[in-house]
Amino acid sequence: MISSVWRDFEPGLVNELSALFDPRYLDYRSADFDAVSALRERLGDRIPSKLEIGSNSGEFLEGLNQRSTADRPAIGIEHDGTQFNLSVKRRDKRKWQQAEVLRADARIAVPLLFAPGSLDEIHVHFPDPWWKDRHANRRLLEPLFLRILARRLRPGGQLFVKSDVFDYLLALRDYAAASGALVPLQPEFWPDERSWTYTRRERKCMQVALPFGRGYYARSSSFDGALPEAVEVAESFAVSEPGKAMELLRGRPLHDRIQREVQAASEQRKVDAED
Ligand SMILES: C[S@@+](CC[C@H](N)C(=O)[O-])C[C@H]1O[C@@H](n2cnc3c(N)ncnc32)[C@H](O)[C@@H]1O
Repeated sequence: MISSVWRDFEPGLVNELSALFDPRYLDYRSADFDAVSALRERLGDRIPSKLEIGSNSGEFLEGLNQRSTADRPAIGIEHDGTQFNLSVKRRDKRKWQQAEVLRADARIAVPLLFAPGSLDEIHVHFPDPWWKDRHANRRLLEPLFLRILARRLRPGGQLFVKSDVFDYLLALRDYAAASGALVPLQPEFWPDERSWTYTRRERKCMQVALPFGRGYYARSSSFDGALPEAVEVAESFAVSEPGKAMELLRGRPLHDRIQREVQAASEQRKVDAED
């Protein structure tokens, strides 16, 4: 079945989108295709250099706007209408010249919007963990989508992920290795973040001293950027310990579990002391 809305885009994209989605979902999200077409027109011959997925109300994008140029702008993609509208207000109020916002499912928009090898930076900060099994298909950073993202990075281009869900970062490490397209960026090569603006969640974490971590990666020099084929996906994305990464993503965050274990141990010590 060929979706009616994506016929107009390049045939090569069919592999990526069809590997990710049932065509019925693509039809259902036809507004995303229209939004991408409109943004392509607005961009003209400008080639985006930075991307933020889940840009929410645009707090982090504000900093990307400052660090970009008019001919190599930053793009923020947000699928939630309320947050997207807030980011539009912020863009207009601050008169951004170097950043654009797009309302779409990033998994659809990325293959359509960015040429292979064109991006310097991709940011995905505090992605939703989607704990429940029935919501697992909404999770963003699966091996195939990581590969699709890595294809858009220029050689040496970087993917930056922050999260207070450490299980997500652990799973990401396995997925990045399984994708064959990304290598961890050693901390000595991490960027100076003083020129970055905080994301909304990051600021909240800092206010209540909630720890969060980083998963920073670079496009692997051995990744040839080949299009992922649907058949290839099943064969090549076995994680190092099958099932472990998915298992890690279920249940409550790791630090909650540790806290509960520490509390249980301390209560047990009290019981032991009373005996
Ligand atoms: C937990 S919030 C984090 C927001 C922001 N990055 C921060 O750090 O505060 C995750 C954001 O990603 C957006 N999002 C989730 N899946 C998305 C997708 N497939 N495409 C675009 N946005 C998505 C959500 O609507 C939400 O704004």
